[in-house]
Amino acid sequence: MIITEKTAASSCSTTINSFPGLEQQPLKQMLLQLQAKFRVVKWIVLLSVLTVLLSLAVYYLASLVQPLPLPLQQMSRFSAFVPPVIAAKQRLNNTDNIEAEDRRNLARVLREAATKEKTVIVMIMNQAWAEPNSMFDVFLEGFRIGIGTERLLRHVVVVCLDDKAYTRCLEVLPRRCFFLKTTGVDFSSEKRFMVPDYLKMMWRRTEFLGSLLKLGYNFLFTDMDTIWLRDPFPRFVADADFQIACDVFFNGNHSDTSNSANGGFKFVISNRRTIDFYNYWYESRLRFPGENEQDVLNRIKDDQYVKKIGLKMRFLDMTHVGNFCQRDWDITKVCVMHGNCCIGQDNKVKDLRQMLEDWTNFVSNGNGKGGFGQPMNCRRS
Ligand SMILES: *[C@@H]1O[C@H](CO)[C@@H](O)[C@H](O)[C@H]1NC(C)=O
Ligand SMILES: *[C@@H]1O[C@H](CO)[C@@H](O)[C@H](O)[C@H]1NC(C)=O
Repeated sequence: MIITEKTAASSCSTTINSFPGLEQQPLKQMLLQLQAKFRVVKWIVLLSVLTVLLSLAVYYLASLVQPLPLPLQQMSRFSAFVPPVIAAKQRLNNTDNIEAEDRRNLARVLREAATKEKTVIVMIMNQAWAEPNSMFDVFLEGFRIGIGTERLLRHVVVVCLDDKAYTRCLEVLPRRCFFLKTTGVDFSSEKRFMVPDYLKMMWRRTEFLGSLLKLGYNFLFTDMDTIWLRDPFPRFVADADFQIACDVFFNGNHSDTSNSANGGFKFVISNRRTIDFYNYWYESRLRFPGENEQDVLNRIKDDQYVKKIGLKMRFLDMTHVGNFCQRDWDITKVCVMHGNCCIGQDNKVKDLRQMLEDWTNFVSNGNGKGGFGQPMNCRRS
């Protein structure tokens, strides 16, 4: 039955095509011409698709092999901050962008501050945060009244971005201060989020931290708008390379890269993987112009290249490393509190001080009762 129908259909179409009465010469010629044109177009389309596929494959393979090469044109966009000449030279050397004399000074500060495992606690300070009764003092106060934190102060290295910060640092923590010079940029004033100099400061920081890894030092980097109430080191695990705080939410899975990272607090072990990762991260700024290091980190954390080098990234529980974006905290567990989600240094300082007071009350109660109030100045900012 079915076969019969098929045969009928095919014989029918043959009949129509070859039916002499319907044959018209001009129409046939036009059809032939159209067919020829169609064949040409078909080849063009096919070739274009092949070319695109081929370049995609090459691009993908290249990204597996090494960080994307930097087009010169993009580099010059960054010229005010990292002159291309320096950028090219620094790849050959261990301590990027640091003069010989400063390098010796840095080596001395690191040697004296490091633990026997060659770990240092690093923070970066400018004039606005160094002034008396501002962030630096709040930060130090945290170490003094925290549980088991004061002894950590001897491992702190304060990286100063300007003269005033350096002078103040030497008064408070002599032999723990390093002046990181950057020609052509003034880092001294308070930097509002995302203005160009703020971005440069953030990237200078990433570049510098990469240098520490190359020198063989592990570091715990902390933003200075933090208070340390308990020793955070027991919260790190041994088999991770790069452990970082979460920004607004921790989903309970330490290895899940869909947690959003907060660049203000991270513990990084010096090894081949982290050195490669820091190079890649720093160079990725050119792919995402105008974005800060934290945003770029969140973009590249899943990249093939990062998987290929085998970096073990781990996200820290916000119960231990918390921040002002959260609505509530467990004062019996928190190690470090970060005053982010806040605009204006005055607001930050006031609210962090208030938290220090809450902490003092909690500790002196001695009954495990009490907690942190809301950082109201920051909430309103
Ligand atoms: C790298 O720095 C060292 C000093 O730490 C210096 O002796 C050496 O010449 C530098 N190498 C290059 C390629 O600049
Ligand atoms: C945690 O996240 C990683 C990476 O996404 C995944 O492979 C793993 O299965 C997750 N673990 C749990 C317990 O969900």
